[in-house]
This record gives sequence, C-alpha cells and structure tokens, in this order.
Amino acid sequence: MDTIIPPPPPLIEARGLRFEVGGSAGRVNILKGVDLTVREGEAVGVVGPSGSGKTSLLMLLAGLERPTAGTLRVAGRDLTALDEDALARFRREEVGIVFQAFHLVPTMTALENVAIPLEFSGDEHAFARAEAALRAVGLGHRLAHYPGQLSGGEQQRVAVARAFVALPRLILADEPTGNLDRATGQAVMDLLFDLRAKYGTTLILITHDPALAARCERQVHVADGMIERDTALAPA
Ligand SMILES: Nc1ncnc2c1ncn2[C@@H]1O[C@H](COP(=O)(O)OP(=O)(O)OP(=O)(O)O)[C@@H](O)[C@H]1O
Ligand SMILES: [Mg+2]
Repeated sequence: MDTIIPPPPPLIEARGLRFEVGGSAGRVNILKGVDLTVREGEAVGVVGPSGSGKTSLLMLLAGLERPTAGTLRVAGRDLTALDEDALARFRREEVGIVFQAFHLVPTMTALENVAIPLEFSGDEHAFARAEAALRAVGLGHRLAHYPGQLSGGEQQRVAVARAFVALPRLILADEPTGNLDRATGQAVMDLLFDLRAKYGTTLILITHDPALAARCERQVHVADGMIERDTALAPA
C-alpha cells in the first residue's frame, strides 16, 4: 500500500475572522469576515487604504488581540482557544514583529533589547545569540547604545534583529520603513528579505509602497475590513 504523506498544514488559516471593538465612540466593526490561508515560507504583501484594517489583522495574527468571531490557526495552534499564558508563549516562540515606530525599550541597550525577550523564554545563551543577531544586521559596534543614541535606521535594524533572534516561523512587519528615508528604508527592507530567505521564514508585510509589496510573491488587498483581492505575482 502506498504511503500518502499529507501536505503540511498552512502556517496561517483564518476563517470568517471578525474584529469589533467597543468604546466611547460606540462599536466599531473593523474586520468583517476575513478568510486567509498562508503557506509556510510565503511572503505576503498586505496593502489597502488607511483605516481598512491592516494593522488590526496583524494584531490578531500576532495573538496581541483576540478575534470577536471566526477561527484562527497559526503555527499549529488554535489562537482562539489559548489562555493569556499560552498566547504569550505562542508570541515568544513563533512570531517576530517589526513595527513602524521601532518599539524598542528606551532604558535598555541594543543588546538588552534583543537578548531580554530570549532570556525570558529560558535561553541560557540569550546574550551571545543577541550579539550574533546584532552583528548580522551590521550593528556589532553599537551593542551598548541605547535607542536614543541610535539613528532611526539603526533602531529599526535592532528591531529586525530582535524579531529574528528566536528564529520564529512567522515575521509580521507593519510599515517597517514608514519612519525612514528612502535609502535607509531600502537597506532595512533588504535585510528583512535576506534574513527571511536565509531562514525560510514566512513574512506578512504591511506597506503603502507598491514597490515594496511587489517584492512579495503574493499581495493581499484589504478594503473596509475585508480582503478585496488576493493576487499572486512573480517576485520582483
Ligand atoms: N481600539 C480601537 N477603537 C476604535 N476603533 C479602532 C481601534 N483600533 C482601530 N480602530 C479603527 O479601525 C479601523 C482600522 O484600523 P487599522 O489600524 O487596522 O487600519 P490600517 O489599515 O492599519 O490603517 P493605516 O494604513 O492608516 O495604518 C480604523 O478605522 C480605526 O479607526
Ligand atoms: Mg496600520
């Protein structure tokens, strides 16, 4: 009898994802039924107008927010079923995030910013690995600098090193070059794509720049809380 090896399950599988928030302004219906499947190793550019729900979708995929309805499996876990501790473990083990505004801890050096999250997850070699990650992004000479002593591009490279240091299966990037000039942004983006190619990491990249989105083999267009279009392209 032939042995049939089933294909690996997708890294991300979202069905009917809805996200509503309530507040003084009343209920806001942010995501209105998103279906999304992403295979391991894919690079997906997420584009769409301001306010369409891109960052909200990223927050759900990262386990930083919980969907109001729908199912969401990421890296083999049903995120809707996890308690806060399990969600925190999921984020540490499976996800690296790069935000537009860098989000480094201002009172920690570059080295500490990269090492401390690793140390939290019990890695005895956290500082050595963090140093190697910073060297890999060209910041071996800036280990003891605080974020306030680094340029924007350097801060974002620290954030990229932090995102990759635990070798997560998924990198989520939300306009990672939005606060950088064109040349610096290009260098950060090259770094992101180089590391992703090296480690085979799945990448979800939110961007307003069509040229950046075109570096991904697939583009998802979000409009008014829904996926309006999902197109595969040959990578640039
Ligand atoms: N906590 C919140 N409370 C109320 N409304 C919110 C909240 N967070 C987001 N929204 C609204 O949800 C919509 C989607 O926001 P989101 O940040 O996901 O958009 P986006 O596509 O990332 O936009 P941009 O391109 O400007 O970053 C917006 O209209 C926003 O005002
Ligand atoms: Mg956004």
